[in-house]
Amino acid sequence: MNITISLAQEIDLPDWLEMRNLLWPNHDKQEHLAEMRQILLKLDVSPVFIARANGATPVGFLEGGTRPYADGADGSPVGYIEGWYVGEPYRRVGVGRALVACFEDWCREKGLSEVGSDTWLENEISILAHNKLGYTVSERLVHFVKKL
Ligand SMILES: CC(C)(COP(=O)(O)OP(=O)(O)OC[C@H]1O[C@@H](n2cnc3c(N)ncnc32)[C@H](O)[C@@H]1OP(=O)(O)O)[C@@H](O)C(=O)NCCC(=O)NCCS
Repeated sequence: MNITISLAQEIDLPDWLEMRNLLWPNHDKQEHLAEMRQILLKLDVSPVFIARANGATPVGFLEGGTRPYADGADGSPVGYIEGWYVGEPYRRVGVGRALVACFEDWCREKGLSEVGSDTWLENEISILAHNKLGYTVSERLVHFVKKL
């Protein structure tokens, strides 16, 4: 499988939408699209990388950006992985690693020296993959809500 990774463009919207919907199925498609169009307008500050196999088949994406602060990071601002997804049939062959490497290169070019990320406590695979790529757990959070 020959993987190419490029910065998202308008033409990637349908494939990106399909993958984004698999990562975050609780948003409706119109919500996704509105957010994605906003992101496309500011790729210089929130880059999106799309991975394709053999120049065509969409296999994964990474949405990145910067945040003023990330738990466990020393500096400010920090690069931040906002979304990271590889389609099931294409996992464990290095696509996720390649997407993260592209984003880390982008961060270095911006002069950033740290990258943060997060995932759900129960997402063991994501935690393992983050660890393998050099990301260490800095905090574990539990969110609460109470209806008033
Ligand atoms: C997390 C995810 C993006 C990883 O993508 P991937 O293409 O499978 O990752 P890679 O093949 O590049 O693997 C990167 C490292 O993680 C490790 N890894 C990946 N999946 C793993 C698994 N199921 N078990 C153990 N280690 C795993 C790999 O061994 C690799 O390390 P190595 O190169 O030293 O062997 C992918 O599993 C995914 O999309 N999961 C569902 C969505 C999700 O949870 N996203 C992250 C939340 S933000």
